[in-house]
Amino acid sequence: MYFPTTRMRRLRKNEKIRNMVRETKVSNEDLIYPIFFKDGLGDFEKEPISSMPGEYRYSLKAGVEYAMHLEELGLKSIIVFGVPFAEQKDEVGTPAFIDDGIVQKAIRAIKENTNLVVISDVCLCQYTSHGHCGLIAENDDTDFGLEILNDETLEYLAKVAVSHAKAGVDIVAPSDMMDGRVEAIRCGLDEAGFENVAIMSYSAKYASAFYEPFREAACSSPGLGNRRSYQMDPANATEAIRECELDVIEGADFLMVKPGLPYLDIIRMIKEEFPLPLVTYNVSGEYSMIMAAIEKGYLTDRAIYETLLSFKRAGADLIITNFAPYVLENNMLD
Ligand code: PBG
Ligand code: ZN
Repeated sequence: MYFPTTRMRRLRKNEKIRNMVRETKVSNEDLIYPIFFKDGLGDFEKEPISSMPGEYRYSLKAGVEYAMHLEELGLKSIIVFGVPFAEQKDEVGTPAFIDDGIVQKAIRAIKENTNLVVISDVCLCQYTSHGHCGLIAENDDTDFGLEILNDETLEYLAKVAVSHAKAGVDIVAPSDMMDGRVEAIRCGLDEAGFENVAIMSYSAKYASAFYEPFREAACSSPGLGNRRSYQMDPANATEAIRECELDVIEGADFLMVKPGLPYLDIIRMIKEEFPLPLVTYNVSGEYSMIMAAIEKGYLTDRAIYETLLSFKRAGADLIITNFAPYVLENNMLD
């Protein structure tokens, strides 16, 4: 049947009808909010992040207060990032796995004061003096004279995960992209008696230009070189399947595609390939470019909901996004 018998516009006539046939929705339960906690701020201090309009680094108390506010607005889950004292950073990222590290303190405080599901980012880059996600060694056969050591890093990642579990975290999310990290973390958690702490693996994490605002926020830029020898090449799609396959075998409970917007094809592919809950990370650069355009008047804030919708339509179950407060405050969700 063709026009004029078939008319696609019948189902777009008015809002009531459009609502009936809508295929995809974004709800508060789909969102995970990334929050930055910083050591050394005043009691209730928060510090604006210049690369991310509207976002802050929080002291413990200010961050917990904000988390409580977001929970009242309907947020269900939060992912915690830490910015440690600069002078504590060392070659192996010690402030990432000490009991009174900033993330460990934040996890305890959020668990005590809210019912949010608490996730923690597990990586070393915010905590190492060199800013890489693993331990390093000199090696001339690399792009910038440094090798990011794989196997030596694994035990440290497991230590970080166990220290978060001790603080009460529900889910750990390794973002380092070392081979074998999910298995190392699973073993570490199980040996320490935390067999019910889940792993949300940053499975297909690309070496992306869209992380730049985050690195300023988290003070985690590599001092020398880049992350291309461990994060994925943005040109590769099928390789994402192998990354996810390995994470599943190693014991991941969630898979993730990161970034989101430039990788919608990967989200769709991974959702079709694997029966695990799929997360996408709507990263800092995606947030900042839209916020900057809204501030300039080039876009309206409807671009935010449309962006979140695209992840769900592509197949993501959950979205880590700095837009969570904006869409909750402005009642933009279904
Ligand atoms: C740390 C980490 C990064 C992000 C999440 N965890 C940055 C990086 O890999 O350099 C990026 C998040 C964002 O851009 O919003 N490994
Ligand atoms: Zn890292």
